[in-house]
Order: sequence, then C-alpha cells, then structure tokens
Amino acid sequence: MTHWTPSSWRNREAKQQPIYQDQEALDRVVEQLSKLPPLVTSWEIETLKSQLAEASEGRRFLLQGGDCAEVFCECESPVIANKLKILLQMSLVLVHGGKRRVIRVGRFAGQYAKPRSDDYETRDGTTLPSYRGDLVNDIDFTESNRYNDPERLLRGYERAALTLNFVRSLVDGGFADLHHPEYWDLDFVRHSPRSTDYQKLVEGIGDSLRFMETLAGRQVGEINRVDFFSSHEGLHLPYEQAQTRRVPHRSGWYNLAAHFPWIGMRTTDPGGAHVEYFRGITNPIGMKVGAAMSPELLIELISRLNPLNEAGRLTLIHRFGVDQIATHLPPLIDAVRREGKKVLWCCDPMHGNTIRTEVGLKTRRFDHILSELEQAFDIHSEAGSYLGGVHIELTGDNVTECTGGARGLSDQGLTESYKTFVDPRLNYEQALELALRVAQRMNRMIDAAALEGPMVF
Ligand code: PEP
Ligand code: CO
Repeated sequence: MTHWTPSSWRNREAKQQPIYQDQEALDRVVEQLSKLPPLVTSWEIETLKSQLAEASEGRRFLLQGGDCAEVFCECESPVIANKLKILLQMSLVLVHGGKRRVIRVGRFAGQYAKPRSDDYETRDGTTLPSYRGDLVNDIDFTESNRYNDPERLLRGYERAALTLNFVRSLVDGGFADLHHPEYWDLDFVRHSPRSTDYQKLVEGIGDSLRFMETLAGRQVGEINRVDFFSSHEGLHLPYEQAQTRRVPHRSGWYNLAAHFPWIGMRTTDPGGAHVEYFRGITNPIGMKVGAAMSPELLIELISRLNPLNEAGRLTLIHRFGVDQIATHLPPLIDAVRREGKKVLWCCDPMHGNTIRTEVGLKTRRFDHILSELEQAFDIHSEAGSYLGGVHIELTGDNVTECTGGARGLSDQGLTESYKTFVDPRLNYEQALELALRVAQRMNRMIDAAALEGPMVF
C-alpha cells in the first residue's frame, strides 16, 4: 500500500465535496483550524476503541444517536441537554434489558456536513449550490445563504467545542449520575403512553444500585458515572485533515475532532479519497454498509481499513431497509466470518427506511424501523454472530417527523412539529419506545441463552 499522510486523500477522487469559489480562503481556514486546540484526546479515543472491542466480543452494547444534521442555530442548552437525556434514558433501558454495559456515542459536536445527490438545486428557474450542511452553507434558498463559505468551517468547529464543553460539564457535574435518573426526565414524559414502563424500570435499577452499595458498603464508583463520546460523518475532507494530528508518546495519527468518525454510504469507494483518509487515522471508525455492498467489496474495504485486524477498530453500520435486510445481511456476515475479520456489527434501521408521504414529506414509519432492528437481532443470532449496537436518528424534543409509535402518529399529523433540516428523526417518546422494545428482545435472548448454559457478564 502507498505511503499515507493526512493529505494523501488529495490524490484520489473525493466525492461529496463542496465546490469552493475562493480556494485561497479555504486554504487559509484549514491552516487556522489545524492550529486550534483539539476537541478530544487520544486517551479518550483509545478508551472508546477498547470498549468497542469488548462490544464486538458481546460484552458491551453500542448506542449511537443524535440528529441527522446538527444546525448552528440549535447549539442551545435545552436542545443539547434533551439529547443527552434521551440517550441516557435509552441506555438505562438497554443496560437493563441486555445486561451489558452500554457505550454512549452522540451524533453530535460536529455532525454538520451532509452528502447530497446533486451539487446544485433549481427552484423556479433559479439554480444555486445544494445545501450541504451548516459546515458549508445555509439552508435558505438565497444566493448569499447558499454561498459555500469556508469561514463556516471555523464556526462549526467552535460550535462543536461549545457542545462538547457543555456535555462534559453536565456529565462531570453529576447530571449523568445513576442515582438521579430524575434529572433526565423531560417535561412531557409524564404524559407519554410508555412512561409507566420506564418509571418501573428506573425504580428497579435504583433498588439494585442501592442493594449493591449496601453489600459493598460504599458507592459503586465506576458504574455510577457514565461517559459520552462524540461522532460525526467524516465527509468534509479538508476539515477532517485539519484536525488530524500526532500526539506525544503515541505512534500514528489521530483525528482529534471526534472520537468516532464514520464513512457515509456514498463515500465507500475503496479507491476513493474517503477510504484513503480513514485508513491512516488511528481512531475507531465506522462504515455504513448498504444494499449495494457485495461480500467481496466488503472484505476488500475491511482489509484496507483494518489491515492489522484489530478488535474495536472497525464498526460496520448496516442500513438496508425493512424489506432488504433479510437478503443482504446474511451473505455479509458469512464472508466476514469466513475471512476471520474482527468487526463490531451495528444496525442503523433509519436510513434504509426513508419514504415520502402523499404530499411529499420525508418520513419513516416506526414499525419499519422496529422491524429492521428486530430482524437484525434475529439474523445475527441465527448466524452465530452478535449485533453489538444500534445507530439511531433521534431528538430529545417533541417533534413529529416519523409516523407510528405508541401514539400512532399519522401522515397528517406530521406537519404539527416537523423541524428536521434533512432526515426525519424519532422523537423522544418513539426513541424510548424503541429502546424498551429492543431491551425486551435482548432480555428474551439472554433468557433463552441461559437455558442452554451459563452466561458470564
Ligand atoms: C446519515 O447517517 O445521515 C447518512 C447520510 O447515512 P448514509 O450514509 O447511511 O446514507
Ligand atoms: Co440521516
């Protein structure tokens, strides 16, 4: 394989990059970005990698979730806190159901760049650059807003830093303390059809925690604190390159803008610039896997991205759609097993299930999402493999973007609070319901396994 540098991707075809009119301005910004202090550290990254390695062996479970696209105007305290709350609540439910520790990774603090089908968009005879996320331009359809402005890379980096700073302070200040799950309650929780199930579970966990502490005669140190890691699609290569650094006392290069960057489905060409960039960084990385991925291509990509076959390095985030998973996933699991590749399997039940309503609104049906996820558990289990994570687009707010769920939201109800800038997200109630349903299934699988022999956690 050829020599790698943080900029060797520039010799390959880079898909999904914005076209900048002012190249010099872009170079200046990249230069400035590369001098700013990092957002995350190499030891946090290494901790996450070892936790993901444990997840790939069935000893932990990954919960990755957040907005499809973060937007600058929502870098606000309630929006961020609500996202943490729903992720904390979901992870509590999953710990309870799966009897495994949960790794929480937010799609936040940098999820500002989006892939698009076309470079340009035309409305009423006017053609302007497509919206590529707040890192690049603004969604409003005017010439000045759609201008691809390199300065926005700095604004995105600053907001990522503000977001992470707030997340870290909340967690360090005790917000994520398992003794106080009431901190995570959202105002509208009490009215949710699922709130009793959740409250019962929380009380049960509180009881076990107190019981363990009574036995131990002290607070259960490690488990009463929970961490969050950050992730985003590593799409905008000049931005990612600017964050790619060496650190003292360690070999290799780290992307210090996020703990866990992933390669989006549209940029998985093995000869392309994204795969070239990702192969050289030391972080744990994700790769989206869709229906077009053949077993041969997958093995080629795994060999490039994880040549040393290191556990925890590569997470395959599969996203086929409710009608496709049953045919596409089994051959991929077979190929990975046959070749002895170490990967963590994670299911994204969102991106293969996007549809449009009669009036053209993008939505996803709760039943489709749940069914893809349930099928994923079954397929892995039947193949003797382990589904070690879920990847969800969600928000802690009370939006109406996906239909179905306990309240039976209809197509007509979608317009009530449809806020997403890109893909439809599960709202707070739907996300919690999904976690409860998944936890029940995990619980049943554990019971069944327990009948067959002892299970060690
Ligand atoms: C996304 O995660 O928002 C996304 C664009 O997904 P995919 O690359 O799987 O299409
Ligand atoms: Co999306």
